[in-house]
Amino acid sequence: MTAQLLDGELVAGRIKMEVGDRAARLATAGRKVALGTILVGDDGPSERYVAMKHADCEQIGIRSAHRHFGSSTSQAEIIEAIQEMNADPEIASILVQLPLPIGINEEEVLLSVLPHKDVDGLHPVNLGKLVMGAPGPLPCTPAGIVELLSHYKVPVEGKRVVVIGRGLTIGRPLALLLAMRRPGCNAAVTVVHTGVDDMASLVREGDVVVAAAGVAGLVTKDMIKPGAAVVGAGTSWEGKKLLSDVADDVAEVAGWITPRIGGVGPMTRAMLLSNAVAAAEKAS
Ligand code: GUN
Repeated sequence: MTAQLLDGELVAGRIKMEVGDRAARLATAGRKVALGTILVGDDGPSERYVAMKHADCEQIGIRSAHRHFGSSTSQAEIIEAIQEMNADPEIASILVQLPLPIGINEEEVLLSVLPHKDVDGLHPVNLGKLVMGAPGPLPCTPAGIVELLSHYKVPVEGKRVVVIGRGLTIGRPLALLLAMRRPGCNAAVTVVHTGVDDMASLVREGDVVVAAAGVAGLVTKDMIKPGAAVVGAGTSWEGKKLLSDVADDVAEVAGWITPRIGGVGPMTRAMLLSNAVAAAEKAS
């Protein structure tokens, strides 16, 4: 079997056009929109991710207000910068790039962002809304994965989905989202992680498998039910080479698969733009 590619660049391009139209309407109405971004430390991949987010924003006419702090910056200074952004009416949404350096309390920093300016959907209030099924900004990578599967009409509702990884940005919120009674979700979700015995046998039950562990090559062909959809959301780096959690030969057994580059990444960025424009629309 040759798997059908889940082309995130293509789907993200369509979302960006729609979101770009909405951003243009805001501009026509005289509403200036900016995304505030906070980066702490000198992690190369994080710097590249933030630069790509700025480029995306520029493409659709959203200004970026960026603060880049050194790795020895105190938590108080970071929170002060966030509070300035909270108070700036032009900044409709704020992104704090994760991970933050060791010694900085991620929870306290995320809590300092006003919930209605939280473009990532990672503020405890917004995560709480997700748990309750109330409307609010959804975490970008989980929302992007659901959009991608839905675009390619991969059956998810009523199916077994295995999420590998339980991190804050992908695994945990994705499992919640996929189990909800909503279009493109409503699945039986199993979350597995490095502490689970015989992980492979659970993964093999998945009609859809999302790998979000950040362990290169973790998902191998023998772990996949023939015809299943496989989404590689976890990444790691070998120098400047981006590695996937999903081994290349998984494509031989999967029914659908994301490419190593151009799968989930562009979808995350498109959903970030969507959240940024939605926050600006609400604020106007
Ligand atoms: N680092 C890795 N993924 C993400 C994400 O989705 N949002 C933020 N803010 N940081 C990240």
